[in-house]
Amino acid sequence: MSQRHSESGFELRPVYGPDDVAEGLTGRLGQPGQYPYTRGPYPTMYTTRPWTMRQYAGFGTATESNRRYHQLLEAGTTGLSVAFDLPTQMGYDSDAELAAGEVGKVGVAIDSLADMRTLFGGIPLDKVSTSMTINAPASLLLLLYQLVAEEQGVAPDALSGTIQNDILKEYIARGTYIFPPAPSLRLVSDTFAYCRNEIPKWNTISISGYHMAEAGATPVQEVAFTLANGIEYVRAAIDAGMDVDEFAPRLSFFFVARTTLLEEIAKFRAARRIWARVMRDDFGAKNPKSQMLRFHTQTAGVQLTAQQPEVNLVRVALQGLGAVLGGTQSLHTNSFDEAIALPTEKAARLALRTQQVLAYETDVTATVDPFAGSYLMESMTDEIESAADQLIERVFDFGSSVAAIESGFQKNEIETTAYATSQEIDSGERVVVGVNRFALDEEEPYEPLRVDPGIEAAQRDRLEKLRSERDNAEVTAALTAVREAAEGTDNVLYPAKRALKAMATVGEVCNALRGVWGSYRPPESF
Ligand code: 3HC
Repeated sequence: MSQRHSESGFELRPVYGPDDVAEGLTGRLGQPGQYPYTRGPYPTMYTTRPWTMRQYAGFGTATESNRRYHQLLEAGTTGLSVAFDLPTQMGYDSDAELAAGEVGKVGVAIDSLADMRTLFGGIPLDKVSTSMTINAPASLLLLLYQLVAEEQGVAPDALSGTIQNDILKEYIARGTYIFPPAPSLRLVSDTFAYCRNEIPKWNTISISGYHMAEAGATPVQEVAFTLANGIEYVRAAIDAGMDVDEFAPRLSFFFVARTTLLEEIAKFRAARRIWARVMRDDFGAKNPKSQMLRFHTQTAGVQLTAQQPEVNLVRVALQGLGAVLGGTQSLHTNSFDEAIALPTEKAARLALRTQQVLAYETDVTATVDPFAGSYLMESMTDEIESAADQLIERVFDFGSSVAAIESGFQKNEIETTAYATSQEIDSGERVVVGVNRFALDEEEPYEPLRVDPGIEAAQRDRLEKLRSERDNAEVTAALTAVREAAEGTDNVLYPAKRALKAMATVGEVCNALRGVWGSYRPPESF
């Protein structure tokens, strides 16, 4: 049998023994819920509370997505997770020229407070925690969420949830950026300060490795580039005048779970240990919550196949198992048909049932960090920690993660790995069941979910009605205040909240900020 290697390129030996585990394991491990949190952020982990089952969902208009959220809550999901369409993510209204053809397509179209009110209709916002996958305009969607909560009579300090708000990984992968790095980092820091003052239980950022992994990053690259971005956000917030323990407890992370679950478990354990050490030793964080890396996981979308789609149910179950054995706080399991189209209600329910089988039919919630002490697991956790530390050093040899991004370093590293992986698949060296081995001569037909094409026109009509009914003088005055804050040093979230409450649209507020900060243009070629 040819020598196996892990996704990160480490040798995978057929047998591991005591000599594979370096001295001092007890110190490197710690106890669950104690520094360096290798075994998990909480002392009891799933023995007292399973991870949050948080299914990413959203498409069409707010009405369609609201219906799916109610279906997921009835099916037993324990956290909401909003997918926004690209125009919303890029700060354009549904009637903007650039929005044509994308309205309601990869997520829900949200233009205004009216849409946000519809999105959460019948959902008490003090009873759920909501994640919103939004980056450049993240602060605006958070303000809309707070405004809907106010209308429900829910106080801001009763709100819990997360905005992704991780603009740096958008420059590296995914691409839903608006402003250049400097004003974008200012907006992130303004959001940290606003939440510290106004919405204290809100997780202000979900520093993501998922999209870099989906673009091809190895587990070591995923951990290193994500934590390097995390370090950059911490530095920016401290430079903006905040004390590390004022905001660090509300930082969160987001990683992928690949089918190679042994290495994924080691990856999560190594990431917790690195972050704990960086926060305690490099930034002097004293609050234990500042040192805990808490994360969400999504199973690997890029490993789903359109061929024999039901086989994806097996992949997602194994990936979900890896995330749970690795100690995730929140989990999204992909639907088996997502490589084909938006998930049907049945496929979305099966994805959630996968988590419920893991939580309630297996014994993985009975004990904390079950692989602790395994020769392989401890050896691979150490290997990933050491390699990720070295790669973080390489990022900061550029001076900052932003400088490395602008030089194309992370993007180049990831693309090199992605190319090698695709070569392995093409050659058959990397087996993809149903694709390059065990394929069917003829695929069985599958009827995917179709989004109503009339959605774009309906959303545009809604916008026209909103603009005709609102107090446009108040909107204009409020947008001027947003521009003035952006030109100065005041926190822009306060005037932005006033504008959104007056029914200014997300696109209008983003245009006010574009007028001051400009738009990011990626360097010509990496
Ligand atoms: N013992 C003690 N306390 C415990 C506990 C235990 N065993 N388990 C949980 N708790 C407590 C926690 O301390 C927390 O209380 P606190 O808020 O007062 O600290 C509360 O119970 C909730 O627990 P968690 O915070 O662990 O779980 P959440 O689910 O609320 O939060 C998170 C998890 C990772 C911190 C949060 O940031 C989160 O939910 N992130 C989700 C991000 C997400 O869904 N992203 C989707 C992205 S989709 C995407 O980008 C892909 C697309 O582009 C393709």
